[in-house]
Amino acid sequence: MIDTHCHIDEEAFAPDREEVIARQQAAGVEAMVVPGVNVASIDSVLQVCAAHPNYCYPALGLHPEDVKKDWQVALETIDAAIRAHRSELVAIGEIGLDYYWDKTYKEEQKEVLRRQLATALELDLPVILHNRDATEDILQIVHEIGGRGVFHCFSGSKETARQILEMGFYLGIGGVLTFKNSKLREHLSVVPMNRIVLETDAPYMAPVPHRGERNESQWMVYVAESLADVYKCSVECIIDTTTANAKHLFGIK
Ligand code: NI
Repeated sequence: MIDTHCHIDEEAFAPDREEVIARQQAAGVEAMVVPGVNVASIDSVLQVCAAHPNYCYPALGLHPEDVKKDWQVALETIDAAIRAHRSELVAIGEIGLDYYWDKTYKEEQKEVLRRQLATALELDLPVILHNRDATEDILQIVHEIGGRGVFHCFSGSKETARQILEMGFYLGIGGVLTFKNSKLREHLSVVPMNRIVLETDAPYMAPVPHRGERNESQWMVYVAESLADVYKCSVECIIDTTTANAKHLFGIK
């Protein structure tokens, strides 16, 4: 299994990060992609990935929730780090739009997304996209600029899934799939297995039966079990397919 979205650099893992990583390796997690969210995470992401070469793979980007008054300086700083570390990075992310918490910087969020998508195109990197309550705008902007990547933590409609697939993007599937009342299982009927990657968004979004706990990559097996049920195939088949998809998308050997 590859965890395509794991914030292992975050504070929640500070007390026992090395133990957590060792536990994932022992449980069969092959690799994890560690996305950045702001200026502070440039160092934290690069450090944890440098300490775990060929296991933790870094991405850098400015998350929409971190688009504030100082967004121009933040974006310039992150852009410079992306260019300086281009050869280590497997993606730009996480980037996107989030209108759920705060719409104050809605226009700035769009501008930041456009610029980061353009940088990803220029540097030939995939993007890790975050979308919350902004589906129409994000689809429109990604369509306008182009590129490749993944819509992380996908939980949208069949129609949204179709549009994402048409643009050639992947869908990141995590703990949401295991939640009772999740419509996602039904919506995946339009999504071919070769366009899905597994993810946690750890420390957040832990799947059932660990819902509410600090998430960790090995628990993606519960997501894989749900997917096996959706696609009527074995858990091994889900794991093999999603691992191959993740390697292909992020260029992981
Ligand atoms: Ni995230």
